[in-house]
Amino acid sequence: MARLQAEHVYKVFGRRPEDAVRRLEDGASREELRADGTTAAVIDASFSVDEGQIFVVMGLSGSGKSTLLRTLNGLLEPTAGSVRFDGQDLTSLSDRELRKVRSEKISMVFQHFALFPHRSVLENAAYGLEVQGVPRAEREKRATEALHLAGLEGWEKSWPDELSGGMQQRVGLARALATDADLLLMDESFSALDPLIRRDMQDQLLELQKTLKKTIVFITHDLNEAMRLGDRIAVMRDGRIVQIGSAEDILLRPANDYVASFIQDVDRSRVLTAGAIMVDADEVLGRTADHGETIRTAEDFLAAAPATVPLDTPVAELFGPCSLGTVPVAVVDAEGALAGAVPVQRLLSVLGEGGQPGGTAGQAGGTAGQADAVKTETVKTKTAKTKAADTRAAEAEAAPTETADKKADAGGRQTAADGTADVQPDGKPDGMTGGKPEGKVIAGA
Ligand SMILES: Nc1ncnc2c1ncn2[C@@H]1O[C@H](COP(=O)(O)OP(=O)(O)O)[C@@H](O)[C@H]1O
Ligand SMILES: [Mg+2]
Repeated sequence: MARLQAEHVYKVFGRRPEDAVRRLEDGASREELRADGTTAAVIDASFSVDEGQIFVVMGLSGSGKSTLLRTLNGLLEPTAGSVRFDGQDLTSLSDRELRKVRSEKISMVFQHFALFPHRSVLENAAYGLEVQGVPRAEREKRATEALHLAGLEGWEKSWPDELSGGMQQRVGLARALATDADLLLMDESFSALDPLIRRDMQDQLLELQKTLKKTIVFITHDLNEAMRLGDRIAVMRDGRIVQIGSAEDILLRPANDYVASFIQDVDRSRVLTAGAIMVDADEVLGRTADHGETIRTAEDFLAAAPATVPLDTPVAELFGPCSLGTVPVAVVDAEGALAGAVPVQRLLSVLGEGGQPGGTAGQAGGTAGQADAVKTETVKTKTAKTKAADTRAAEAEAAPTETADKKADAGGRQTAADGTADVQPDGKPDGMTGGKPEGKVIAGA
């Protein structure tokens, strides 16, 4: 059942935003508006997220991901459109009601998770509950449980500066889990982590989600991360959602050339499964098995197939069996019943689709990065004024500004008041990191 629903959400920054929405509805482009100093950050976004789903919003830096996310918890009011959680329209709530929904039902995890330096890990994890006014004993109990879930058992009494970056990010996750919020909004939560730690965190999130069944919106500019985590993925470009679908939908049926160019470096063999690419088993009937007999029934096929694999087998694992003889690999469902077949031709054509000649299949190295394939936009520094506007609500529940400010000063880089930063430590816009390093890790794992 859909718990979160966004319908025709627009967010325009600048003067007379409502006029801008009307112009967009009449077909004006984002560029035309920009010429007037108006930024259409989110244009006509509609989607819904079910309980237990991880909905990933993916796009380059500046495509509107963070803005969209902030409309989902009421940090930003949409210029037009509606956001509903459990049927309740956030845009219709008073400030007070909104704060209550935000503190009880929604948690946010940012890229640069700022911890209170003079509080223990436990107290940091309990912060959201403290804001809610939960009594000490109760909040410490729940924070302890959340720390266990986040893999930080035994670190409760430590100080933040005793933790690695990855562990600090786990505290951020624990803080979000401790509040029992059903809706988790994660903005580039793992983007600042080293590839290996990042993968760990992705695994942990997937593992937690199996039992906790939260409703999660996860923002990333990293395609491989999107493909790993997303039950459904929305690809954003210039403020618009250009495609929504599963990883397989997006790989096999990119909605347009933009999406196609975006995905060309993905290691398809790791993302696609036997179930997604199989053909009808009937196509095998009438073929001749390697021992010379004709395959007439499902039983004949199962007996003659070089391998029988479950639906969720990564395509990468089909190369070996597919190259054995002429009979396709058999794909079976959870009950062991024949579900389809993967002939070697199908395997090769799927892996070649959208890829470069030679394909990306199974090659760990790949070619020059995605940054070349898709031009990245330069991140514009927000003005002090617009930052102040965002700060308004962000202060209520986000990371403590004390440490966020300190970090910003120390690094000399732009950091929004809510603890998110649009710029990587090396000063590059976040879109520049592309999916390549991760791709190698995935391919090599
Ligand atoms: N408070 C703001 N005021 C004016 N423009 C903004 C504000 N926040 C974001 N923008 C602009 O909206 C666009 C989308 O930004 P953002 O949502 O941060 O993208 P992403 O998270 O995908 O990098 C960018 O052009 C950005 O400069
Ligand atoms: Mg962002």
